[in-house]
Amino acid sequence: MKMRDLTGKVAVITGASSGIGEATARLLVAEGVRVVLVARRRERIDALVAELGDAALALTADVGDAAAVADVFAEVERRFGGLDLLFNNAGLGVNAKFEASDPADWKRMIDVNLYGVLHCTQAAIPLLRGRPGAMISSVSSVGGRYGTESWSVYSATKFAVVGFHDALRKELGSEGIRVSVIEPGAVWTEFGQNVSDAMRDRRESLDALTSEDVAQALVYAFAQPPRVLVEEILIRPVKQVSP
Ligand SMILES: NC(=O)c1ccc[n+]([C@@H]2O[C@H](COP(=O)([O-])OP(=O)(O)OC[C@H]3O[C@@H](n4cnc5c(N)ncnc54)[C@H](OP(=O)(O)O)[C@@H]3O)[C@@H](O)[C@H]2O)c1
Repeated sequence: MKMRDLTGKVAVITGASSGIGEATARLLVAEGVRVVLVARRRERIDALVAELGDAALALTADVGDAAAVADVFAEVERRFGGLDLLFNNAGLGVNAKFEASDPADWKRMIDVNLYGVLHCTQAAIPLLRGRPGAMISSVSSVGGRYGTESWSVYSATKFAVVGFHDALRKELGSEGIRVSVIEPGAVWTEFGQNVSDAMRDRRESLDALTSEDVAQALVYAFAQPPRVLVEEILIRPVKQVSP
C-alpha cells in the first residue's frame, strides 16, 4: 500500500536530540518532511541538522518553559507559515519506589511530560488549523495505560497525557485536526539510563523495540488520509507480556 505523499509537510519534533525523536526526524525527512528539531542539548540537534541538511532546523528549548516554547512556534510560523505535525515526544522518567522518591524529581517529570505537552500543544494549534491532515501526536507509554511499580509518578504523567488527548480530540476533531497518542513499551534509548543495570537486563530479555520501530508507528499514523485518525497506538515488544 502506498502511503500518502508527505513531501513538503512541516513537523515539530520535541526531544529530537536522541532516541525516538531522533529516529523520527530521520524517517520523516526520508519521506520529504521538513523537520524542526527541539531539545535542550544544542550540539546533538546541530549534529542531526548537519546529517539531514536543509530539511532540518534546530531550535533549542526546554519544553517546560512556556516562553521558550512560544519562541519556537513563533519561529516556525515565521519560517513556514504553518505546521502539519506536532510530535510531543520529549520526556523523562525517574525510577524510584514512591515512598522514597524525591519531590524534585516529581516536578521534573511533570514539567516535561505534562507541561511540555500542554505548552507545545497550545502554541501549535493555531499553526495546525486549516492544514489538511494536521496532526498532534504525543508519546505516552505502556506506563500511561497500566501502573508500573517504581514508576508511579512517571505513570501518572503519562496517564495524564492520555486523558488530555482524549479531551482534546473532542475539541479539535470537528476542525479536522487529528489528535493521537503513541504508547510504547520498552525501547532501547537513553531513557532511564540513570536507573540501573536491571533496566538494561530487562530490555535485553524482552528484546526491546528500537527507536525506529516507534518512529514507523508515528509515520504510519501521519501518512493516513486526512479523514483517518489513528487515535492510539500501543506498541510493545512481543515478549513484554505485562507492563
Ligand atoms: N525508552 C522507553 O522505553 C520508553 C517507553 C515508553 C515511552 N517512552 C517515552 O518516549 C519519549 C522519548 O524518550 P526516549 O525513549 O527516546 O528517551 P531519550 O533518548 O532519553 O530522549 C528523550 C528526549 O527528550 C528530550 N527532553 C528531555 N527533557 C526535555 C526538556 N525539558 N525540554 C526539551 N526536551 C527534553 C531530550 O533532549 P535534551 O536532553 O537534549 O533536552 C531527549 O531528546 C519520552 O516521552 C518517553 O517518556 C520511552
